Amino acid sequence: MKKDFLALQDFSKEELLYLLELTEKLKKKKIKNPQVLKGKSIGLVFQKSSNRTRVSFEVGIHQLGGNCIYLGPKEIKLGVREAVSDVGKTLERYLNGVVARTYSHQYVVDLAKYTRIPIINGLSDLTHPCQALTDIFSIKEKFGTLKNITVAYVGDGNNVCNSLLIGCSKLGIDMNIATPQGYEVIAPIIENAKTNAKKSGAKLIFTQSPQEAVKNAHVIYTDTWVSMGQETESEKRLNDFKDFQVNQELTRLAKKDFIFMHCLPAHRGQEVTDDIMDGKNSIIFDQAENRLHTQKAIMTFLFKG
Ligand code: CP
Ligand code: NVA
Repeated sequence: MKKDFLALQDFSKEELLYLLELTEKLKKKKIKNPQVLKGKSIGLVFQKSSNRTRVSFEVGIHQLGGNCIYLGPKEIKLGVREAVSDVGKTLERYLNGVVARTYSHQYVVDLAKYTRIPIINGLSDLTHPCQALTDIFSIKEKFGTLKNITVAYVGDGNNVCNSLLIGCSKLGIDMNIATPQGYEVIAPIIENAKTNAKKSGAKLIFTQSPQEAVKNAHVIYTDTWVSMGQETESEKRLNDFKDFQVNQELTRLAKKDFIFMHCLPAHRGQEVTDDIMDGKNSIIFDQAENRLHTQKAIMTFLFKG
């Protein structure tokens, strides 16, 4: 049976740990010339812009011996030019897998439902699982462990936050989330996270105070205040989030050797200041690089058969 990669919630702790281990092996080149995609074509069906996701998937597919076809927002027009089910049922006749970046999360779910080829979620309005798995790999890489680590997320309770929360709660990583009123993580994600945390022992704190979230944290994570598709809300959001900037004053409350993380693209001077982005605690470009290694592990897992 084909496997998809739609959300971290669909994977067990053991599977996630296996993917982290595989990522490390691929990054350290312990697997010689991995060619799991030899003779295979993977389509990138993207409704939104991308730097990291597109480039790291294209390069990763190439490194695994496969062929990649980029289908941007102007090509397929998911759900507009054609029903999502018809798109999926057509693409599976040509392709061996699809990485989809969509607005509606239902579109990635439907692509998976209507096709017999693996579908990878390359970001939807609800989740960004490739990012979260990369983030957790990056944390483990920096601290050498995932035990007794506290991740503080400051900002919007959005797709990036949702997936990080699910990943951390599955793997027993404590997470403090500070969001302004009205921008909290949605209830079904919190419910899943709490169920995961009961099993893994992760401690979860939801607050409206960035200071409370960051106090003694090992990781400070933030993301844009205005995600793709929310541009018309920009002015209101910039105002509502103004006390949630990650800056020197806030980071002083964290552990001395904290790491700063951001999925990127960042809006310098909004959710984070330049000195934090470019400072000694920032690991943002190692984190970006790790997208490549993690996604190669995900594809190896899905396509190895
Ligand atoms: N972090 C991330 O997904 O970046 P892109 O939107 O540039 O792909
Ligand atoms: N939350 C952001 C993440 C971009 C990688 C967005 O959805 O635009």
